[in-house]
Amino acid sequence: MSIETLLCPADAAGVARAAQLLRQGQIVALPTETVYGIAADARNGSAVQKIFAAKGRPQDNPLIVHIDDVKMLPGLVSEFPERAQLLAAAFWPGPLTIIMPRGPEVADECCAGLDTVGIRMPSHPVVRQVIEASGCAFAAPSANLSGKPSPTTAQDVWADMQGRLPLILDGGPCDVGVESTVVSVVGAKPTLFRPGRITLEELERALGEEVELSPAILEKLAEGEVARSPGMKYKHYAPKADITILEGSFAQFKAYVDAHAGQDPACLCFDGEAAQLAPYPCVEYGREGDGASQARHIFRCLRALDEQGDRVVYARCPRRDGVSMAVYNRLVRAAAFRVVKL
Ligand code: TXA
Ligand code: MG
Repeated sequence: MSIETLLCPADAAGVARAAQLLRQGQIVALPTETVYGIAADARNGSAVQKIFAAKGRPQDNPLIVHIDDVKMLPGLVSEFPERAQLLAAAFWPGPLTIIMPRGPEVADECCAGLDTVGIRMPSHPVVRQVIEASGCAFAAPSANLSGKPSPTTAQDVWADMQGRLPLILDGGPCDVGVESTVVSVVGAKPTLFRPGRITLEELERALGEEVELSPAILEKLAEGEVARSPGMKYKHYAPKADITILEGSFAQFKAYVDAHAGQDPACLCFDGEAAQLAPYPCVEYGREGDGASQARHIFRCLRALDEQGDRVVYARCPRRDGVSMAVYNRLVRAAAFRVVKL
């Protein structure tokens, strides 16, 4: 499969072109505040199938449907539960996906056989303009080849998707840097399926009740355990390098890397640490203890390790709370759950 791909600025002409393609049942890559996505009309099953083909995505992994107004919900969901209304009032538009009972108009291809659908109202002006101009609610997963780190720049989308879709809108680097928080309000208790910029604590404050943590978030699922959020079971975000997370102080980290110097390792470290880790090649992924800064850079840094050709990589360990939970969740998957406590 190879088609001509246009990479163009996300200006008025680009937005109009994207909206026209979406109405024609085509797929388009565009920026959101979290990561770049590949959009298709969520009511058009054959359009949505093109997303799976372009990404090489397993069919049993459901997609998120994007809207720009709660007025678009009828038909997409069968119910707008009270908990969802509280969350929408607190965090929409923004990086939050709410799993709700599915409505009749969503194409089967978006839901992977589930009776639920994930809905998100993004805040990025470009994606909102495209929704408005096309009139389409659209399904949009991250615009990477399945298994690769999510793209946070149009150039990273180009690297993965060139020849696989007709249009990439360039809206500059994404602000949040990791995909939206996914929370389910279906079932007895609200449950966090995927951590993101909107934290567990923020969800609990808005709901006034405890939110359960899906077990797949921080640990590897046990053999035979079923992922309630199918995306969590896949090898994900994985660069070619073999990454190991080292949990401990900077001094312990440096000592460990020195003891393994024979492996020719590279380091994925915090801002300002590269100079102290010479001569190892380093990629700095944000300020220590600052989850938002780490989230913004983590996917670009995982791609940078591959571009440098690094094979053995030791990573400084992010915290597991607040926004850092999202960073840890992505990094531990990129590291195939290899974590060494120092
Ligand atoms: O920030 C984002 O959410 C980005 C941008 C493009 O908006 N999109 C995104 O989509 O990350 P994707 O397809 O890469 O991730 C969707 C995640 C997967 O982990 C999937 O399993 C979960 O959401 N998901 C979607 N619908 C679900 C459902 N009905 N039940 C459980 N999990 C669901
Ligand atoms: Mg994805």
